Amino acid sequence: MKKTLFITGATSGFGAATARLFARDGWSVVISGRRDKRLQALRDELSFLVPVHTMTLDIQDSDAVRKAVDALPQNFRNIHTLVNNAGLALAPDAMQRVALSDLHTMINTNITGLVNVTHALLPHLIRTGAGATIINMAPPPVNGPTPAATSMAPPRPSSNSFPTICAVIFRVLGCG
Ligand SMILES: NC(=O)c1ccc[n+]([C@@H]2O[C@H](COP(=O)([O-])OP(=O)(O)OC[C@H]3O[C@@H](n4cnc5c(N)ncnc54)[C@H](OP(=O)(O)O)[C@@H]3O)[C@@H](O)[C@H]2O)c1
Repeated sequence: MKKTLFITGATSGFGAATARLFARDGWSVVISGRRDKRLQALRDELSFLVPVHTMTLDIQDSDAVRKAVDALPQNFRNIHTLVNNAGLALAPDAMQRVALSDLHTMINTNITGLVNVTHALLPHLIRTGAGATIINMAPPPVNGPTPAATSMAPPRPSSNSFPTICAVIFRVLGCG
């Protein structure tokens, strides 16, 4: 059976490159992002190789995510791999110098967006069963109490980031 990739943030960078890689390997691909023109261009490029479905979507919007996933065409419903790639790092600076709205955007995208997409797709992945995979793009763990770590680690859904930022906070507070 043909395998299907679902990837967020496929309009540039790692996401577009990953979609190309899977398509060259024969996977059907569901590509998503907010910039529709870029999605259409990637679809035009890849649809010579494999079936491609585009999903113009802001992953911060849980209702839109749910509706788009519910509306997946029948031949794209057998999702084998979800790549949670959409994300951003708006403010590599000490938290007090970062606009609160930027922190909220990062959290709403990197964490809430990731949860929105994963929650909507889990029934599909569970139906797929053995071999179903979720890959979360994340930076390397923050390896020390640098000023930027205070703003960059909280908005990352990395299993390593949360313990590390706790350690950073403890050190800043003089508890660790
Ligand atoms: N570059 C690095 O050095 C690096 C290192 C470690 C980890 N990462 C992580 O790897 C991932 C990809 O990085 P990249 O360098 O390839 O970044 P990029 O070129 O800026 O791509 C980010 C992608 O995320 C999408 N996106 C952002 N906000 C979104 C939203 N609200 N809804 C839907 N899509 C959204 C963007 O699409 P639209 O703008 O079209 O929506 C874009 O396709 C990110 O999660 C990033 O944090 C990057």
